[in-house]
Amino acid sequence: MNIILLGPPGAGKGTQSDFLRDSYGLSKLATGDMLRAAVAAGTEMGKKAKAVMDSGALVSDDIVIGIIRDAIKQCPKGFILDGFPRTVAQAEALDVMLAEIGKKLDHVIELKVNDVEMVARISGRYSCGKCGAGYHDDFKKPVKEGVCDSCGSSEFKRRDDDRAETVAKRLEAYHAQTAPLLPYYEKRGALKSVDGMAAIEDVTEALRTLLR
Ligand code: AP5
Repeated sequence: MNIILLGPPGAGKGTQSDFLRDSYGLSKLATGDMLRAAVAAGTEMGKKAKAVMDSGALVSDDIVIGIIRDAIKQCPKGFILDGFPRTVAQAEALDVMLAEIGKKLDHVIELKVNDVEMVARISGRYSCGKCGAGYHDDFKKPVKEGVCDSCGSSEFKRRDDDRAETVAKRLEAYHAQTAPLLPYYEKRGALKSVDGMAAIEDVTEALRTLLR
């Protein structure tokens, strides 16, 4: 099964793609995570990407298409794309890649949310510094305060691009460059949507129902 999750920053793409990966054995391909890993590793590509990401703009199509091109071939049970495609050029490149390897998209799912709430969601987000498990100050706390549920670490971190002014720029980039993907997939009859404003568990349940 091959899935794209679409939605603005904070919509819950990362949260729900973890569920899809764990429940269906799919590979999660999250371009934001891959770019952050390149930044942390200090690669040439990471150095180029960091300034752009910190400004809230999109990294160039060439870079992200290159990252996905290799990764998409290594998904034996299928994939969830989280954060890709993000421009029409990326969606067109994805169509070509899939045709080349004989795969197809099964579901393109929009997590529908309201922008105003996204700033609060993103500013409350943090993750485990060791295993990357995601949390939120209000909506998803670890069971034991200060201890990661997944690996027991007590080191947590927040993203550099989660400052309020950068979040506003990321939302602008979403509406200008990524929202045109909704009609792109709708015209093919591939687009489905789920209420991303519901509680995390309810969004998960709606996805489970949609994929059944
Ligand atoms: P990326 O890492 O992809 O960030 P994003 O799309 O801005 O999305 P987020 O990770 O902020 O949000 P999310 O939808 O995953 O929400 P989450 O589940 O974490 O991209 C970062 C940057 O990399 C981009 O700005 C760009 O520069 C670059 N980039 C990446 N891909 C690119 C591409 N293809 N092309 C060009 N550039 C690219 O949830 C957020 C918080 O809310 C969490 O704390 C969570 O616990 C909580 N939460 C989730 N769901 C709910 C809910 N239903 N109710 C309450 N709280 C919830």
